[in-house]
Amino acid sequence: PAPSSRVAILADLLDFERAPGALDISDAACRWRPAHWLLIENGRISAIHPDGPDARPGPDWHCIDASGQWLMPGFTDAHVHSAQIEIIGAFGEQLLQWLERYTFPAEQRMAQADDARACSQDFVDGLLRCGTTSAMVFPTVHATSVDALFEAAQAAGMRLIAGRVMMDRHAPAALCDSVESAERDCRALIERWHGQGRLAYAITPRFAPTSSPAQLALAGRLLAGTPGLYMQTHVAENPAEVDWVRQLFPDARSYLDVYERHGLLGERSMMAHGIWLDDIDVALLAQRGAAVAHCPSSNLFLGSGLFDWPRARDAGHGLCLASDVGAGTTLFMPQVMMDACKVQALRGQRVTAWELLHGATLGAAQALRLQGEIGQLEPGCAADVVLWHPALDDLQRRRQRVARSLHERVLAWLSLATPQHVAQVWVAGQRRV
Ligand code: GUN
Ligand code: ZN
Repeated sequence: PAPSSRVAILADLLDFERAPGALDISDAACRWRPAHWLLIENGRISAIHPDGPDARPGPDWHCIDASGQWLMPGFTDAHVHSAQIEIIGAFGEQLLQWLERYTFPAEQRMAQADDARACSQDFVDGLLRCGTTSAMVFPTVHATSVDALFEAAQAAGMRLIAGRVMMDRHAPAALCDSVESAERDCRALIERWHGQGRLAYAITPRFAPTSSPAQLALAGRLLAGTPGLYMQTHVAENPAEVDWVRQLFPDARSYLDVYERHGLLGERSMMAHGIWLDDIDVALLAQRGAAVAHCPSSNLFLGSGLFDWPRARDAGHGLCLASDVGAGTTLFMPQVMMDACKVQALRGQRVTAWELLHGATLGAAQALRLQGEIGQLEPGCAADVVLWHPALDDLQRRRQRVARSLHERVLAWLSLATPQHVAQVWVAGQRRV
């Protein structure tokens, strides 16, 4: 193979072999391998070994000495809206008003293929510059927005999961589809994109209020019809939304039960938010093998509520972190992690830096059934890896110096990190940033 297909990076490696224990702040809860070589061949991690006198790979390797930098798996953003990068920070509303005043108008712009392409490119570039190498994404109801997003992800070699948003009521006419058009578009898009390279398709009913029972039933049939499909939607984000769902679906036991009744809860189902679920709901999620994408930045911005991390952790369903841009105010996952930390603080609870990092790496990979592919520095995994500066100025170096444990260093780093701390981003063994 050409020399450029063999890359070796020397850095301090940080990832997880398994889920960190609850409230375990010991250094043993993560996998810290300082001064190790990570070897990449043909887009995948092929080996990892400690540095030493004879450890440097030979002349047929392109060697990168990033000593002192941290090498982590690229982050996964488990729930984010590509078209909403245009409305980050829209002023002063809760969910339902925010959707009407800002979100739906922005999404209507994606009917134009040129706008959808430019927006998708900015979105993918934005993720990569933040060190996020995989994502589960809502584009819009327009098939062209799905094509544009998948094309941009494919060009970057990213593992990305997305699907055409289904919504046939309670939204502007220009954003509403029908059962028939949804079926036609989704079948064509599944055919075109599902399993193409690193891409996968997700059945994407926006949320229960904007899909008729007939459309939710279609979503269930589509999901059952093709192996390996994902499902993504929103659930129990905001109290007014939960009330509305109760009125729209009076026979359902709960908001989550609306999805259960339509066959939408499975091993590849990603439910965004889940703040206002009850104990029966979280047990059902665990039983179905489904996952929750916790979106703390969004929840704080829209005043949606304070997610109960310990309950979710103890329920044993999949649990990962997500930006939920544009209700979330950043694509940068360390900031999302710190928002999660602050949400728990407001509840009088705690979450460790390890649990937070895990939620955007191995935990997300497990929730998406992609363990062994992404989320770890492990031979066989795709080389989706990011080199980070641990500190960029005197203040940050001082903070790192006084930290008494690795956990303290990492939590301080999460607090102070910015996209400027991204030194290099590799996706499937290709340098992208
Ligand atoms: N619920 C339904 N649609 C949306 C959306 O676009 N963003 C958020 N945060 N919640 C939703
Ligand atoms: Zn969302």
